[in-house]
Amino acid sequence: MIKKLCYFIVLLSISIKSFADEGMWLPQLLQTLNEKEMRKMGLKLKASDIYSINKSSLKDAIVSLGGFCTAEVISDQGLILTNHHCGFDAIQNHSSVENNYIQNGFWAYKKEQELRNPGLFVSFIISIEEVTNSVLNNVQPNITEKERQAIIEKNIAQIKKEYKKETYQDIVIRPFFEGNKYFLFITETYKDVRLVGAPPSSIGNFGKDSDNWMWPRHTGDFSMFRIYADKNNKPAEYSPENVPYIPKRSLKISLKGMKEGDFTMVFGFPGRTNEYLSSYAIEQIKNISDPAKIQIRHEILSIMKNFMIKDETIKIQYAAKYANIENAYKKWQGEVMGLNKSNALLKKIKLENIFTEKIQSNPDWQNKYGTVLQDLSNAYKNIEPYSIARDCYNEIIPRIETFNIAGVLNNWIQTISKDSSSKSQINEKTIAKLEDIFKEFSPEVDRQLFERLLSIYLKNNGKENISPLLLELLKTKDIQVLTNEIYKSTNLYSLENIKTILSNNTKNAIEIIKNDDLFKLYSDISETFNNNVAATVTMLQNVINKQQRKYMEAQMEIFKEKKFYPDANSTLRVAYGNVKGYKPKDGVKYNFYTYMDGIMEKYKPNDYEFDVPQKLIDLYKAKDFGRYAVNGRQPVCFIASNHTTGGNSGSPALNADGNLVGLNFDRVWEGTMSDIYYDPSICRNIMVDIRYVLFIIDKFAEAKNLINEMSIIN
Ligand code: ARG
Ligand code: GLU
Repeated sequence: MIKKLCYFIVLLSISIKSFADEGMWLPQLLQTLNEKEMRKMGLKLKASDIYSINKSSLKDAIVSLGGFCTAEVISDQGLILTNHHCGFDAIQNHSSVENNYIQNGFWAYKKEQELRNPGLFVSFIISIEEVTNSVLNNVQPNITEKERQAIIEKNIAQIKKEYKKETYQDIVIRPFFEGNKYFLFITETYKDVRLVGAPPSSIGNFGKDSDNWMWPRHTGDFSMFRIYADKNNKPAEYSPENVPYIPKRSLKISLKGMKEGDFTMVFGFPGRTNEYLSSYAIEQIKNISDPAKIQIRHEILSIMKNFMIKDETIKIQYAAKYANIENAYKKWQGEVMGLNKSNALLKKIKLENIFTEKIQSNPDWQNKYGTVLQDLSNAYKNIEPYSIARDCYNEIIPRIETFNIAGVLNNWIQTISKDSSSKSQINEKTIAKLEDIFKEFSPEVDRQLFERLLSIYLKNNGKENISPLLLELLKTKDIQVLTNEIYKSTNLYSLENIKTILSNNTKNAIEIIKNDDLFKLYSDISETFNNNVAATVTMLQNVINKQQRKYMEAQMEIFKEKKFYPDANSTLRVAYGNVKGYKPKDGVKYNFYTYMDGIMEKYKPNDYEFDVPQKLIDLYKAKDFGRYAVNGRQPVCFIASNHTTGGNSGSPALNADGNLVGLNFDRVWEGTMSDIYYDPSICRNIMVDIRYVLFIIDKFAEAKNLINEMSIIN
């Protein structure tokens, strides 16, 4: 009996424990849903210290950076901290072979040295409110998805019109739980965000692609920016007159560090998850779409890499693109592995069996949800060939830059044909877009990508989905000959040539562009895709969305005892868990902390990924860690069970007192399937210890000006 009871208690604690780690929770609902559990796990704050609209709370220190990452305010002069890889585009834009901030890092020792970044912005969340009833007003059950969307858009427009806000604020309304609920956000967006500091890549991206998504990790993945505001501390476009923003709240930085089991939370803007999918969806992701995308990216990366290791200019030009492509490439491999390892498919099938049993016992549920799983199964079967074609197109076409250039010119033709009166303006905009592309473009690389990727396009697509023009051209020559001919005749890889063409009178210019061989091929490939694939995919995706919405509603109704969190959708969330290691495979157990000793173990002089700046080695040898070390060792990274995803990069890791102890930047490879299925035994987020960040700023960069701005406590 006692044995049985123990077993029961163990089981119970496993299920409670695992439950606590999973989830990206809405900050305004913490008090109702999570506060009790968080306190039990160690939190010393109240939910209202994390999110409140009546007083300053932690949320006032958190911003969405550019819509793709998170950052947090760490001084009362608008200084913000984010990841190196989040600031990378800005760092790259300010870099050249002579002034290589990617390689050497960048530090502003005075505010005048901070660098502006057109296009980069940060958004604060002022308040969050549920508006489901108003958004779904008049939405009847049996209308088409298109009709539904139209009514919702109308309702949203109406709400936005009537809602009271300040002129410098914006309103954002987003669907949650697959469209079963809607929330409204009041935001304030600052558009003058300047680069303040970034370590060399050999620190900020130490271990590069080999270490990406991996634990144990030793990356100092951080960079710093500053928010500027107008004289009234309000959002403003860039101006030299702007002043550092004075925040409502900035985070205190704790040097206390973390012990195994300590409470932590990550506060930020996770991008996209799909936690409530059916087994049919998971099967398709795992067996078809992930493997197909992985294969295509493998080819792209090996071509780029070949050029990048030989040529410094190409290495800088393609650095951000390469890192981006590689990132999801490696993530998907981890995802497939993790889905297999955690038996996600089987677990979903089991859940579906329970679901079916439950609805069969209740005529009302049976009536409402009786066919939803079968409908989803059919829908995934129907979409399969089209989603393969879509993935193939999406993975291939945008990687050929001359096709992107053709796309810009195609837009130019559309716009100028409608309104030729503002030609000089339209040309200016078009050329600006092209200049952006050409900054990161090498014709040699592109030509090889063109040849290789079109071969894959031919192989992966059913004949009916292949461009007829391409098939026609290939009747008389192979793809290599065709590539050479097209690259000889086209004007599209020269910005100068394109500028000359655009300066012609409009009719001639359009004529020349439309007769360009590469443009012709681009047009035919995209037209074939739009006609044969895109429309059908959208239609079938609508069917899936509708059924998935119903399935979500059903799960929430049927599993009443369960607490549901909405899938990530780039809105503000809190994830919480405990600091802990994990067992990636049989016989291996990972510790939860890494130290600088590990950097020196990985160090390979002159290596592309594992080189280290001499100064870092010197500081290490002299044990010159200042106040940032523990017992003579400098901590670098740690892991915890916080449920995070892409977009959480740059999010603060906070301790039980709400002080900053780390900076989230990655997840462990074995656990990247947490976007679809969270398994508490192997899902971990990776954070850089704030003491390593401070050590780099203070001892390596000697940017005391920045350290002095911060509020650092023990
Ligand atoms: N895997 C992390 C994320 O998803 C870091 C990516 C940047 N680092 C890199 N080596 N590509 O964004
Ligand atoms: N590196 C990711 C990002 O850029 C975070 C890692 C993850 O996907 O969890 O947001």
